[in-house]
Parts: sequence; C-alpha cells; structure tokens
Amino acid sequence: AHTYDFVIAANRLPVDRVVTTDGSVEWQRSPGGLVTAMESVMRGRDAAWVGWSGQADEAPEPFKDDNLLLVPVELSADEVTSYYEGQSNDSLWPIYHDVIVPATFRRSWAAAYEKVNRRFAQRVADVAAEGATVWIHDYQLQLVPRMLRVLRPDVRIGWFNHIPFPPVELFAQLPVRHSLLMGLLGADFLGFQRPADAENFLRACRRLLMAKTKGDVVEVPDSDRRVRAAAVPISIDAADLAALAESEPVKARAAEIREQLGNPRTILLGVDRLDYTKGIRHRLKAFDELLRDGRLDPTDTMLVQVASPSRERVDAYRELRHQVERTVGNINGAYSPIGSTAVTYMHRSFPREEMAALYRAADVMLVTPLRDGMNLVAKEYVTCHDGPGALVLSEFTGAAGELKQAFRCNPHDIEALKNTILTAIDTPADERSRRMRALRKQVAKNDVQAWATKYLDALRLAPEKPTA
Ligand code: G6P
Repeated sequence: AHTYDFVIAANRLPVDRVVTTDGSVEWQRSPGGLVTAMESVMRGRDAAWVGWSGQADEAPEPFKDDNLLLVPVELSADEVTSYYEGQSNDSLWPIYHDVIVPATFRRSWAAAYEKVNRRFAQRVADVAAEGATVWIHDYQLQLVPRMLRVLRPDVRIGWFNHIPFPPVELFAQLPVRHSLLMGLLGADFLGFQRPADAENFLRACRRLLMAKTKGDVVEVPDSDRRVRAAAVPISIDAADLAALAESEPVKARAAEIREQLGNPRTILLGVDRLDYTKGIRHRLKAFDELLRDGRLDPTDTMLVQVASPSRERVDAYRELRHQVERTVGNINGAYSPIGSTAVTYMHRSFPREEMAALYRAADVMLVTPLRDGMNLVAKEYVTCHDGPGALVLSEFTGAAGELKQAFRCNPHDIEALKNTILTAIDTPADERSRRMRALRKQVAKNDVQAWATKYLDALRLAPEKPTA
C-alpha cells in the first residue's frame, strides 16, 4: 500500500460522517478550532490524516479528499463513551481548563484511552513512509508519541496541544499523570499555545518525573533522548477568510442580517461551541444586568448568541445547555420589546459564509472564555470586520497574548465585564477602526500558514541526540 511522508493524527477527521434522515450519508465539516486551522494547512497536500469519523462502530475504508488521504479509525460505541466522552472530555478537558467543572476519573476510561491511543499509533505506523514526519494533535492522543516511537523509531514525531496545559498543581490530580508525561516525551518536539503552557509542561516533568530541564529542553528519564517544548500559537487562514468576508454575497448578507434584526444601533455577538469553558453564562449575566440597570436599552441593543452543539451526552454540557437556555428565556421574557428579541439564541452551526456575514454585521464581538487554549473566533472576527467593530476579549484566552488592541476583560468580574462592554460600545468610531486595523494586521501577518511553517521548522530542528 502507498505510504506518506507527511502524516497527521487527530481525534477527528476534518469531516464528520453524518447519516441524514432519509438514510443517505453525508460528510460535513467537523466542529472546533483544531479542524478550522488544520483543514487549511492540509488542503491539497499529498499527506494522510488519521482520525475518527464521528460515528460509533463504523470504519469506512480510507478515502481521498483532494490529495489528502483520510484514514478513519474505528471507535466502538463503548469507546465513544469511555475514551472520548469519558477520559478525554470528562477527565482531561476539565483538568486542562482550570477545573471550571469538577473532573471525573475512572480506571475503565483510562484503560480505553490507552487502547484507542494504541490503535491510532498503529494506523499511523501503517501509513507513514520511512523517515516520515508525523504530527499528532491535542489532548485526546497524548500517549501516541511514545507508542509510535516504539513501533516506528525511524519517523520524526511532533505533537501540538490545541488547549491549555494546566499548572502542575491541577495536572498532578490525574491518576494517569505519569503515563501522559511519558507518552508525550516520545515526541521530538511538543508545541503549545502560550509560553505559560510550555512552562507548565516543563514544570510537570521536573516535579512529577524528576526530569532535568535546560531552558525549554527536557532530558527524558532513563534515556539519552531530549525533547523540546515551546509555544507556537495557532491561527487562521486569514487571507482566505478576508477574501470571503469581502465578497459581494457576504457583504449583502451582512446588510440583510442587520435589516432582519430591525437595524438596531448596536449588535453584540457571541459565537462558541456550547462549552462551559467559553464563559457564556457570565456574558449573559453581564448583558442581563446592563438591561436591568437601564445602562443598555433593549430597543436599540441586542445580543446574538450562536452556540454550536457540542459533546451533548456529557452531563456538564447538558446542564450548561439548560442553564443557558433558561437564562436566555428569562432575559427575553423580561426585556424583549414587541417585534424583537433582546437575545437571539441559535443552538446550531452555520456555514462559513453565514458566519463571515454575522461577524461583519456585529458591532461588538464578545469573546469571554474562563479558559481557552487560543480562541480562533476572536481572530475570525477581526479578519472579517473591516469597519469600526470592537473585540471584547477575555484575558484567559491564548488569543489575549497576541491581540493587544482588544478590549481586555476578566469575565469573572461581572462589574468589570459590564463596564468593558459599555466602553467598547461607546468608544468613538475612528478609535475602534484604528484598533480593528491593528488587530487585523496582527492576524494577517501571523496566519495559520506562518504557524505551520514555524511548527514544522521547530520539529525538523528539534534536538536529536544529547550533546553531553
Ligand atoms: C476543541 C479541541 C478539539 C476538538 C474541538 C471540538 O477545539 O481542541 O480537539 O475537536 O474542540 O470538540 P469535539 O469534542 O466535538 O471534537
């Protein structure tokens, strides 16, 4: 069988297999920031992408999408529950996001995680050519680097974490902390979103493995290998998105959206996966209080909240949905004028064109996560909106380290959040335009292609042998 010089592995393929109501099969773009970024990096490349199709008990044959070979990895229904919903999203996700909700640990989940990681490592080993470059992604696959190194010592192995890496005080709670660190240290280069994430990882190696570190390089215990851990912040395909946002149909649709919303003075916008890390409840609380206090007028200001469905069988996500929908109902019940709604809430996802139009139509973008590895929505907004917009951005996002002209906020401080929203609304248009231009330039310069080049250069140059 044909093998590839460049192989990437991520929990999900860039497309999800969806069986529609009439029984026909469709492939739809997968949710989340990882796919947003990696899809454009991989588009047209002669490479293989190993990942799950999004459906249980199905392993379609590998198939081509342009030049890219998609290699589906099968998960049983039980593994979807234990490896994906359990270990990945009920144990690791909360620990890696500051325990915004408590984490649950189960030995059977950890065992399934190991088993599935081994399957991924095997599939990668099967399709990688001699000396290939293998790029493994995110928290679902942290054991793959070490497993793959055993199977295929000839390949170059990189891993990139799309989410935060937690402080050692939180990481240390994980019963699997040791095997995770050792799993990752099977790679040649480990990439993180922020310098603080790389530092957290290095500290965990020192404290929990008693490993020696020199600068950003870890000496792997009981081996002569060294592994570098450094920040390479991810981005979006800015030129491609800007071109879409400036196209006539999208411009016309943006104008139409404002019209359909009744031409309000101010449109506030939130766009998130429906996840407790995103600070949606804090945002709604701030908006609610601004209306209650009469500091915002529901006849000329409205909030549009797109919340795309996510991990709907995990309890914490179910609960969040109920809370958000109840709060939206309460706000609308209290403040919506006849013929309009204070909060336009949409629990679904939209095509890129519609999102670009929404971003263009929004006066103030609210990106208020309690913790977020990067947040590509912030970068998408400033890329699409070329007028006097405003970005309210939580300091707990990776993006806050780069987007300095945003209106920065601490979403836990509801009073401060309210004030920041009002400041963003009231800042004169020329000042807002100036900030937006600076933000747009920042993202255009540091786009996803620049990120991939930087990452792959670091992987190529990673230390191979000890010097001493
Ligand atoms: C985040 C993670 C991705 C994940 C995405 C969507 O962006 O970093 O790894 O794919 O969320 O979540 P899901 O669980 O639907 O894949």
